[in-house]
Amino acid sequence: MRIDLISLFPEFLAQIAGHGVVGRAAERGLLSLHGFNPRDFAEGNYRRVDDRPFGGGPGMVMMIDPLRAAIRAAREADPRPGRLIYLSPQGRRLDQAKIRELSAQPRLLLLCGRYEGVDERLVAAEVDEELSIGDYVLSGGELAAAVVVDAIGRLLEGALNDAGSAAQDSFEDGLLDWPHYTRPVEHVLGNVPDVLLSGNHAEIARWRRRQALARTLARRPDLIGTASLDDADRRWLQHLQDEAGQGPGDGSGKIR
Ligand code: ADE
Repeated sequence: MRIDLISLFPEFLAQIAGHGVVGRAAERGLLSLHGFNPRDFAEGNYRRVDDRPFGGGPGMVMMIDPLRAAIRAAREADPRPGRLIYLSPQGRRLDQAKIRELSAQPRLLLLCGRYEGVDERLVAAEVDEELSIGDYVLSGGELAAAVVVDAIGRLLEGALNDAGSAAQDSFEDGLLDWPHYTRPVEHVLGNVPDVLLSGNHAEIARWRRRQALARTLARRPDLIGTASLDDADRRWLQHLQDEAGQGPGDGSGKIR
């Protein structure tokens, strides 16, 4: 997979590609990252990339032409078509399903804004999709792009050493993850739950599932409605709610 980053700070790239799972994916040739700096395509001695907003107000807006030229250079560097994604707080909220979808693409272009944002005409003409990593405002899209690259990189076939581990991630089945433990078994902070030492795989799977359901109900009840649940899951959730004496989310106490 190839990902092009359109950014005023392409040195961010080296940071993303240099470490951990994404670094390994890059090393193994599963992922290649390329930076295109709009400033390299800006005109004049000052290589200006931003200007004041029409209508007044604080901050600066990224100008059309340097961005457009950087996007064109990225597209010319590899003729395969790729979706252009603009990272911005106005975008649709990123989730694991979207990351899965993006990880199946052979090529993506990520546009990182700075300042107050990007001239809307460029967004309308060039951007295929606008994504936000959460309801807060970063000083630029680079960190958001790093989040996207990291989350995609670890899903690429062969990036993780243990092939099963991505399938067991939080959110893959719409639930939060269960708790994890490693050695030592006994510690002043507590002991590892007996069931995990039992060697009974069916019991362990059941315990983990129940833990994941309990956590999701307690911390992210909004996810319960869209998770894939079977009858045993529903019975366990009902039990948890009966115990707590209250329902999730809308307060109706009903589980789909
Ligand atoms: N740029 C600034 N804030 C952002 C956010 N929350 N998500 C994606 N890109 C951003």
